[in-house]
Parts: sequence; structure tokens; C-alpha cells
Amino acid sequence: AARSEVLADAQLWADGVTPPSNKEPLDAGFHHLPERLLADYQSNGSESEVGRIIATANRLAAVVDRVVLLGIGGSYMGARALLESCCHPYYNELPRQLRDNRPRVSFEGNNVDNDSLQGLCDLLPSAMSNSDVADRWGIVVISKSGGTLETAAAFRILLNRLQKSLGANHTQLAELVVPVTGTSGKLFDLATELGCREIFPVPDGVGGRFSVLSAVGLLPAAIMGLDIVQLLEGAAAMNDHFRSEQVGKNVVLDYTGICHLMEKQRGCDIRLLSTWGKRLEALGLWYDQLLSESLGKRERGAMPLTVVNTRDLHSRGQQHQEGKRDKLITNIIVDEGTPTPIPIGTSEFNQDGLNELAEKTIPEVLAAATQGTNKAYRDDNRPTADLRLPAINEFVMGQLFQMFMLATVVEGRLVGTNPYGQPGVEAYKKNMNAILRGM
Ligand code: PA5
Repeated sequence: AARSEVLADAQLWADGVTPPSNKEPLDAGFHHLPERLLADYQSNGSESEVGRIIATANRLAAVVDRVVLLGIGGSYMGARALLESCCHPYYNELPRQLRDNRPRVSFEGNNVDNDSLQGLCDLLPSAMSNSDVADRWGIVVISKSGGTLETAAAFRILLNRLQKSLGANHTQLAELVVPVTGTSGKLFDLATELGCREIFPVPDGVGGRFSVLSAVGLLPAAIMGLDIVQLLEGAAAMNDHFRSEQVGKNVVLDYTGICHLMEKQRGCDIRLLSTWGKRLEALGLWYDQLLSESLGKRERGAMPLTVVNTRDLHSRGQQHQEGKRDKLITNIIVDEGTPTPIPIGTSEFNQDGLNELAEKTIPEVLAAATQGTNKAYRDDNRPTADLRLPAINEFVMGQLFQMFMLATVVEGRLVGTNPYGQPGVEAYKKNMNAILRGM
């Protein structure tokens, strides 16, 4: 199908799935969001949405040392992917000046977990001084619907705590709480009542798991000090690539084609995203959600699974090498080397026999592991594909997010599944609410 048709005429996706009377969401708004936000930023600078996101992030960074990010699913996973990929691996543990004076970031409201919530509360100063930024914290609460119980309950608990810790300065609540939500709903009403200085929108027509390049991902990224314009430019570059490149050179169409054909012809309905190193694990988890909620419908859809190697070669590796032949393994390989490769080094204690490898660096060990693993798969006729990244930075992450979102939508069209909406997730929510409210 012509690419313009695939993305422009969203109605077509639904036609094969639902009768026209059934109003399923057709949230194709993510596609041109990067270009729209960039154009607005270019024309309106600090008054634009991107300009306001940057200003709010800088304002928060100047007055707090920790931001608690509340959100679940599509309202959380992109931000975590950005923290893990683009920030220092021990970001939250660095002294403030080594974090470029940006706040620590703690995720909550993404689960129902008393231990974790209590653990965070133990870390949060119970009284806030005006003078010492180290004692100060704030909340960014993200929920498109504004009614998700996990996030709402955590927000209620932490808002009460923040209010208490501000004591006589409770008027600062409006400065220290930044919501990202729809233009109506419970969270919007609550934020309005609190008088929050800024309420950032999740644009209409942009579904939760497709919203990472809206304020949902951009505000957290800006708080971490990341270059959000680069993120958007990477995504816009991927849109151009998708529109202009032919099959065989088009990463969106090629990736979709390989996944689709391997599933259809070889029964590979488990899609393993194999990351080499921890930095892309959360990106993989973001993609797990995107694919599962978008195409896991009508008793169809591949099962995504992210692994971090070589760690997981020592756990799931056995199954991948000798288990059922139902997996397509896609390696994400980063070409750029590290500026600080660590050699194994010599030691007078050579009982481990490593002096022979003393000159080898950790990246060289990883490269050998990657090649060795892929050779072992090839020797046993187990299919792999490689997705090569030139480096990991904001621009590349923007490209990657957009590529996976486009690929998911194109595949939806290919198999006749509307990728938007997640009716299956509603079942547990309905039951949970009924149980809690004694209905
Ligand atoms: O993709 C989706 O729409 C979902 O995963 C949502 O992001 C998730 O359920 C959270 O919803 P909300 O942002 O409304 O709290």
C-alpha cells in the first residue's frame, strides 16, 4: 500500500476490524506531532509548547533536587527509556553538580506496590526549607485520562505528603506540582483547583503509548537536562526517511516486512529485542508495551520480549538457542564506541587465568559475545536481524521511537488490526474498581 495512504487514511485500518458504527479510537496524531511541535517552537520560541516545557523543566530544576514522576504504561515508559538511555547509568546517585544541577528522577504511580511507595516516602524530606535545594522535591503527574487508579492513588498520597512538608509555604504547591493530562477529566479538575502554574496537554488524537514525543516524554526529558529539540528532530528525520526511502533501504518498511514474514511463514510469533548492555532495556520495555497493546488483539499479534545481553544469555539464552523455533531475534547494536573502554588488566593474582586477556577491553568482550551468539544462532538456522544505531543520543532516540511507532501502525494495517485503543486492558480495571467499591 502507498505509504501516504497507510498513515493518512486512518479509517482504513479500522474498516477490516470493526463496523463503522463501532467508534474505536484512531489516534494517528502521533505521526506529525514532531514536525508540528518543531514548527511551533520555531515560530513562537519561549511561548511555544516546547519553549514552555523547557522553561518549566528549568524552573523545577532550579528549586528541587528530586522530581517524582507519576504515570503508568504510555504515561511512564518513554520517560524511563530516556533516563536509562541518555543519562548517566547512576544518574540519581551522582552529586547534584555532576547531574548538571538537574533533579533526581524517581518513578512511582506505575504499579500498586506499597513497599516501593513507602521506600520512596522514606527518601523524601518531611520538611522543606526554602534555602536548601537538597531538601526540596516536586511532582510531575502524567495521565492522559486523568483517572487511572494507580497514578491517582499515588498522586493523592504524595500530594498530601508534599503539602505537609511545605508547612506554612503550602502556597508553593502550585509551583511544585506539574500535571500532564487531557484538556478535561479528574486530574485536569484537580490541577485547576490546586492552581497549578502549568498544565501540559496530551494532544487529542495521540494515544498513550504513542505519546512519548508529546509533553508526556518531553517534560521528563527536559527535567533530566536532555535536548528535546534533538529528540523531535530525530523523529521528524525518521518521518522523512519513511516517506522517501524505497523498500530495502527503508528501516520502517524493512523491519515490519521481516517481522511480518517471519511470523507468517516461519511461525515466529515471539519477537525478541536483544539489547547489548543495559542502556536500552527500558526502550525495549517501552516497545513491549507498544506492540502488545497495539496488535495483541483478535487472538492475534506477536509476543514481544526484551532481553539484555549478555546478562540474559545466562537465563533465557538456553531457550533461545535450543527451545521452540518460534522466535525472531532482533539485535540492537550501537556502532559508536565508548570514550572510556576499560581493559581487563593484569594482576599478580592470575588464578582466574585472565592475564592472557589483559589487553582486551570490556567493549571487545561484548563484541565477541555478540558475534559468538549470532554465529551460534546462524549455525542452528535460528533467524536474527540487526538494527544498527550510530550512537545513543537524543536524536537517535527520537528516530527509534518514531520508527517503532510507525512500524507498529504499518503492521496493523498489514494484518487488519486497528493498532489504537486497548480494550483488553479495561477488563481488569472494571473488575478492580467494582471489587474496591463493593459493587
Ligand atoms: O497506551 C495507552 O493508552 C495506555 O498504556 C496508557 O498509557 C496507560 O493505561 C495510562 O493511561 P493514562 O495516561 O490515561 O493514565
